[in-house]
Order: sequence, then structure tokens, then C-alpha cells
Amino acid sequence: MTKTTPSPQIKAKLLCYEAQEGPEPWGRALAKIAPDISFHGYPNWPETDDGLPTFALVWNPPHGLLAKYPHMKAIFSLGAGVDHLTRDTSLPDIPVVRMSDTGLKDDMADYVLMGTLMLHRHMALYMAQKSERLFARRHAPRGAAVTVGVMGYGALGRAAADTLLQNGYRVRAWSRSPKVQDPAGPALFAGADALPDFLSEVDILVSLLPETAETKNLIDTDFLGLCKPGIKILNAGRGGIIDDTALLAALDSGHVTAAMLDVFKTEPLPDDHPYWTHPGVIITPHTAAITRPMSAVSYVVEGIEKSLRGEPLDAVLDIQLGY
Ligand code: NDP
Ligand code: OXD
Repeated sequence: MTKTTPSPQIKAKLLCYEAQEGPEPWGRALAKIAPDISFHGYPNWPETDDGLPTFALVWNPPHGLLAKYPHMKAIFSLGAGVDHLTRDTSLPDIPVVRMSDTGLKDDMADYVLMGTLMLHRHMALYMAQKSERLFARRHAPRGAAVTVGVMGYGALGRAAADTLLQNGYRVRAWSRSPKVQDPAGPALFAGADALPDFLSEVDILVSLLPETAETKNLIDTDFLGLCKPGIKILNAGRGGIIDDTALLAALDSGHVTAAMLDVFKTEPLPDDHPYWTHPGVIITPHTAAITRPMSAVSYVVEGIEKSLRGEPLDAVLDIQLGY
């Protein structure tokens, strides 16, 4: 829930690193919600420890920066993905919290619904036809006859799956560890052994997986061989989970009919990447869910309050699992 009233006095420091758009929006949001937490946007981070509990709120900080603050109590990631932090081999051994605020969940659910509708209703085809001035229509089944498979049934996967169910799709979801099946929820599958069964019925595959050692290049030729011919793929998790050569070959052969991609191995997507010109590919610029300052800072302040009360934090990175 987004806080609307300022928190009672909290004495702490929040060091923010956000190089793309700058730290200012986060500082402004913090001033509204918790004016007693002192905010330091990089590069104006204090050099010395003045004894105040210190926290960090960061996106893609330079490797080694966080290790210089050994007294820090916790690191909050500005994104749900923490691969920007796990790549730093000097990451301090303190809790690293994934962003899991309502803003991200709502935005991702919208994006997945939009992408699913676009793929279901042949939008990649119509966009390609437009460039040829071709006015030719294609039938689409009702959503109730379309099975959407959501890979990753965490904070974002659950939000997306619920929205898809509410919009009449048949939904199944796949995660690493088993979950309790809710009769009103998606059909649940867990673990590598369940992958063939999970994929066997999927018409539109949605990936909301984190990039880890286990998920890297997961969608490769063997994986695609388990999918139904004609499958459509939406990836809003991380680009690293797709073997691009395998996906392009499957698009060329028609085994995969269309792909909607928001995330890429290299971002921005290089000018000469074949995805740009492939008629079966819809590209969005890593925009599925962009962290919103008010909702995110509210989530961070709740985390700081918990940490100061000595309570365990939610959504903490498991460094062994990589997410
Ligand atoms: P969570 O950590 O809450 O959920 C991750 C899910 O992936 C869990 O269900 C987890 O399984 C599952 N998973 C992890 N590894 C495996 C595996 N090897 N096999 C099967 N399932 C696996 O993360 P969020 O839902 O908050 O975010 C997911 C990802 O979305 C982020 O890591 C980020 O990469 C991406 N993202 C993209 C954005 C965009 O704009 N495109 C915006 C925000 C996030 P289990 O439940 O068993 O732990
Ligand atoms: C995130 C992202 O991880 O924006 O939140 O990709």
C-alpha cells in the first residue's frame, strides 16, 4: 500500500544511486513520506559514518561502490530485478531487497495483458502488413480457448496471472519451487521436470523470470522444441533468458509465430540487431514496469522501519539462487 501520510520521525540515512534519470525524484518522494530520513543522491554520499543507520536505494551502481559502506544495514534495489547487483562480486553481505511495490505489479500486469491481447489478436502480423499496405484479416479464438503460460510466479507473475484470469484467458504458471494450488488460480507447475508438461498446452508464453545462472539462455532450441507449433512469446523478464539465435530461427521457420520483447541481452538493443527488422517481432524499450517514486519510496520506508525494529525484511535476495 502506498503511504499518503508522513512517517513518524525516523532517524536514518538513505544513499541513492540512479544514474539514468538522477536521484532527485526519489529524494522528493522521500521528503513527502519520511522527511526525517536524510537523503543523499550520488555523488554526494557522506564519506564517514556518523552513527545514523544507513540504507541504500540503487540501480546499477558501479561495482565496488557499496562495499565502501560497511556500516550499511540494507540495500534496496530500485528494480525488481537484482542482476545489476549480483554481478558485483564485492556486494556486501547485508540484506538486498528486491523492489516489490504495488506500482510495479500493477504496471506489469497491464503490460502483460496488453502484450497477450496483441499477440492473441495477431498485432505483429497486422503491423507487418501495414508496411505492405495489405488489408487482410485473420480470425482469433476467444480468450477462453487460449492458454497463457506465465514463467515466474513471483510478485509480478502472480499479478500478471490474476489479470489474465480476470480477462478470460486460461492461465498456467511455472515456478522453481512448488506452491499450494488455489482452485480459483492458475494451474501451477514447478521445477525443471514439470517444464514439458507446463509448455505442452501453452499458446502464449509470458516470461517474468529473473536472470540467474539457471535461467540464462533457458529459451533455447531444446526448450522451443517442447513448445506447441505456432506459439507466441512475450518476454518482460530479462533478455538473458532467451537464446536469440534459437528464437530467430524458430520465428523464421514459423514454429514461433510472433514475439513481443521488452528486454534484451544488450540494452539499448544494438542498431544492427535482427530483431529490429523481423516482421514477427514487436519491440518495446524495457518499459513494461518502470519503478514509480511515490509507491517505491513508500515500500522502502516500510522496509527501513522494519529493519530498525529488528524485523526480517521481505523480498530479500538469496545470493545462492541469484534472485
Ligand atoms: P520474484 O523474485 O518475486 O519472482 C521470480 C519468480 O521466478 C519466482 O516465482 C521464482 O520461483 C521464479 N524462478 C526463478 N528461478 C526459476 C527457475 N530456475 N525455474 C523456474 N522458476 C524460477 O520476482 P518478480 O516477480 O518481482 O520479478 C521478476 C523479474 O521481472 C525480475 O527479476 C526482473 O528481471 C523482471 N522485471 C522486468 C521489468 C520490465 O520492465 N521489463 C520490470 C520489473 C521486473 P519461486 O517462486 O519458486 O521462487
Ligand atoms: C526491474 C526492471 O527489474 O525495471 O524492475 O527491469
